[in-house]
This record gives sequence, C-alpha cells and structure tokens, in this order.
Amino acid sequence: MIKSELLKSVKEKRARVGVIGLGYVGLPLVTEFARRGFRGLGFEVDEAKAAKINAGESYIGDVPGAQIKELVVAGRLRATTNFDHLKNCDAIIICVPTPLRKTKEPDVSFILAAAEEIKKRLRRGQLIILESTTYPGTTDEVLLPMLQETGLGLDEDFLLAFSPERVDPGNPEFQTHNIPKVVGGVTEDSTEVAASLYSQIVRDVHAVSSARVAEAAKLLENTFRAVNIGMANEMARLCYALNIDTWEVIRAAATKPFGFMPFYPGPGIGGHCIPLDPHYLSWKARQHGFDSRFIGLAEEVNSRMPEHVVQLVADGLNDDRKAMKGSRVLLIGVAYKKDIDDVRESPALSIIDRLRLKGCDVRYHDPFVRQVSFDDSHTEGGGRPLSSVELSEDEIRSSDCVVIVTNHSNIDYARVTALAPLVVDTRNALNGDLRRDSRARIIRL
Ligand SMILES: NC(=O)c1ccc[n+]([C@@H]2O[C@H](COP(=O)([O-])OP(=O)(O)OC[C@H]3O[C@@H](n4cnc5c(N)ncnc54)[C@H](O)[C@@H]3O)[C@@H](O)[C@H]2O)c1
Repeated sequence: MIKSELLKSVKEKRARVGVIGLGYVGLPLVTEFARRGFRGLGFEVDEAKAAKINAGESYIGDVPGAQIKELVVAGRLRATTNFDHLKNCDAIIICVPTPLRKTKEPDVSFILAAAEEIKKRLRRGQLIILESTTYPGTTDEVLLPMLQETGLGLDEDFLLAFSPERVDPGNPEFQTHNIPKVVGGVTEDSTEVAASLYSQIVRDVHAVSSARVAEAAKLLENTFRAVNIGMANEMARLCYALNIDTWEVIRAAATKPFGFMPFYPGPGIGGHCIPLDPHYLSWKARQHGFDSRFIGLAEEVNSRMPEHVVQLVADGLNDDRKAMKGSRVLLIGVAYKKDIDDVRESPALSIIDRLRLKGCDVRYHDPFVRQVSFDDSHTEGGGRPLSSVELSEDEIRSSDCVVIVTNHSNIDYARVTALAPLVVDTRNALNGDLRRDSRARIIRL
C-alpha cells in the first residue's frame, strides 16, 4: 500500500513536488508548495523560463520575483528542462496548456507529451495529478492506460487524480492558498492522498467521488460564465436597440438580494479559459450523441461582440460625417481583462482586424502589452504587428475615435474624455461624473 507511505511524507512535508508547465497556473502552484515547506521542482520545455526561475526572477505578474529569489536561494525551488528529475518527485502535477484545434476540437497533445515523459520514468510510490482543464474522462480514459502500460499498478504502485485549477490572474484577493480546491481521484486512495497534499497549501479542499466529476465541475464553472456573459452581451445589444442604459439596468437588477447574480457585457470574451473550455464539454457530449445548445448559443453571441463594437465605432464616426476608411482609431487596452498582460483570445485582436479591414488607421495603448502580433492576414496591414503607443495629448487629440476595450486601472480616463472627440466605452470604464464632464461624445455598449 503506497497510500500510507505517501500520506506520511506529505504530512511531514518530505514529499518532493514536481510541477510540469510553469505558466499562469504552474508557477504560482510550485511556488506555493515551496513557500509551505516542500521542495518544489518545476519542469519546462521553455529553457528561458526555467533559466529565469533559477536566476530568481518571475515572469508572471501574480508571483513576485523576490519570492522566487528567496525560495531558490533557500534551495526549496528549482526549475529544469531535464525530465529525468521526474524520478525524484513523489507528487507530479501537470499544468500544461489545453488549447483548441482550428476545428474547435480539444487539443490534448500537451497533456500527452507531459504524460509520456512521466510514463518513461514512472516508479513505485508516485502520485500523478492532472490540473490542466480538459474534457471529462481524460484522466481515466487517456492518462490511466498510458501509465498502466509501464506494468505498474494503480493503488499498488502509483495514484492518479484530477484537480482543476481556478487561478484568477490579476486578482490580488484570491490567490492559490485561498481558492478552494476540488479533487477527484480515479480511486479512493488517489483522492485521499491528493486531497491531503493540497490541504497543505490550500485552506479548503473539496473531495469528489471521481476524476470525471472534478473534470466536469471545472467545465461547469467556466461554461456558467460563458453562458451568463453571453446573456449579458445579448441584453446589451437589446438595450442598445431600445436606447436603454444596460449598465443601469444591471445595477438595478443587482439590488435583488437573492436569485440574481450580475454579469456584465463587454467587447467579447478572451483568455485561455472562458472562450475555450466550454468546447471541451460540448465536444465530449457530442461523442455521446448529446448536443449542448446553450454552449453553442453563448459562443455565437459572445463571438459577435467585436463586430458590434466596430459597428458602434462606425455609427459614431458616421454622426461626425466621417468614413471609417482613413479614420484614426485608438484602442485603449488590448489585454483580455484589466490589469494583466495576457492577450490570448483577446477580443481586441478581432476588433483591430475588423477595423483594419474597413481601412481604419488603428493604434493602441496598453501599459501592460508592448506589442501584439496577428496571424490573420486578410487585411492590408494584417499580419503586421502593432506596438503600444504613448497615451500622449497629441495621440488622443489626433484620433477620430478612442475605443476603451480593456478597463485598466492606471489609465487617466478624465484626460481621454477631455481630449478625444469621440469615445466608445465597451467596459463602462467611464463613471457618471466622467460622462457628465466629458468633452468627448461617448457611446457606451
Ligand atoms: N490561465 C488561467 O487563468 C487558467 C485558469 C484555470 C485553469 N487554467 C488551465 O491550466 C492549464 C495551463 O494554463 P496556463 O494559463 O498556465 O498556460 P500557460 O501557457 O501560461 O503555461 C503553460 C506552460 O507549460 C509549458 N509547457 C508546454 N508543454 C510542456 C511540456 N510538455 N512539458 C513542460 N512544460 C510544458 C509552456 O512552455 C508554458 O510555460 C490549461 O489547461 C488552462 O486551461 C488556466
């Protein structure tokens, strides 16, 4: 029975924790284990990232460089590109990307690559945990058979579990230690040991009966957001058509103390989770002959928001007797949400692409994102990367329209409304006072 041995080494913090994939999820996780007295070893394919960690530097906003440095100097944290060290780990947690293929089908190739490295070195006494978001069944239908091919036995030799990550980049209130963790093993022993491991670093651990339940729970969380944001976006477009202030409607509805939860419209959804994860669920459902209509509908509504934003710009310019072709449009923010530097799936990219297609001269300012590149090349300037411009008086004044795509906190919005002729606000970044005192004409989502 390896359960009791592992439980003992976890409780005594002797267990060596390996984390594969040191991105937004893996780096905070391995750092937290190291902070709580474990020896943390990070595995990367990106040599530059591993080198940075070992030099005591951070490349993720939520993890301070000073913290990495302290842990590296104390010998509690290290990163490597040599997967042979997996042999030395008692717990191995996989935090690699799970993107979609162009066909919107799940791409679990990163999970398979990580699992292959583990399989080559699996030994008796190891606990393997998958954290990457994926469809229900990945842990026991894909990972388990791979690991069993080694001849080692589940429960007798190794344990296997799934525990979804819920990190919210840029949110200082909720960090790894105070975000409750769901854990589901493929066996009871796996659940118990994985739950015990996480309870060393996370305040609340919620164990469930299987890895599939844990996998599905994560997808429910993100599908819930995608569907509700879709509903808020539809409401915004409906209110625009009826000439009603959406934001005021939501604020009023949110005074109801039960049975309502506010969600807000925006220029579209972005990031590595909300636009992608629901597809993992609908794909798996389709394999079983079930068509999930809410997911498809939410995607349809959300993916049309960039088009709507461009229409608002066109309407605003039109009122100023200006054509889109040749007009200068300045985007404020290209990150998918405020105060972070992540542009993955950001609606700003689609907005820029569409504006360029209409012949606009597009610029952007984002204090967190120095440059963006485009793989889409159907516009004249398509494929050409854009660099953030300074938010100078001249830049704002010379724009025909300013579009607030991301409501970063450190932007002087009063200055923008004082200098720009026209502002399209997709995030309700301009409060009532700013709107009242604005010299710019403001169009809100
Ligand atoms: N970013 C979030 O807010 C968030 C939140 C919850 C869940 N997730 C999920 O967590 C997983 C990881 O997301 P992320 O945002 O940390 O991704 P990321 O791209 O920031 O980091 C992934 C890291 O894994 C590395 N990598 C890729 N293949 C590897 C391999 N075979 N071996 C070792 N390293 C490898 C990459 O170089 C990269 O540094 C995804 O499944 C994602 O859906 C992300």
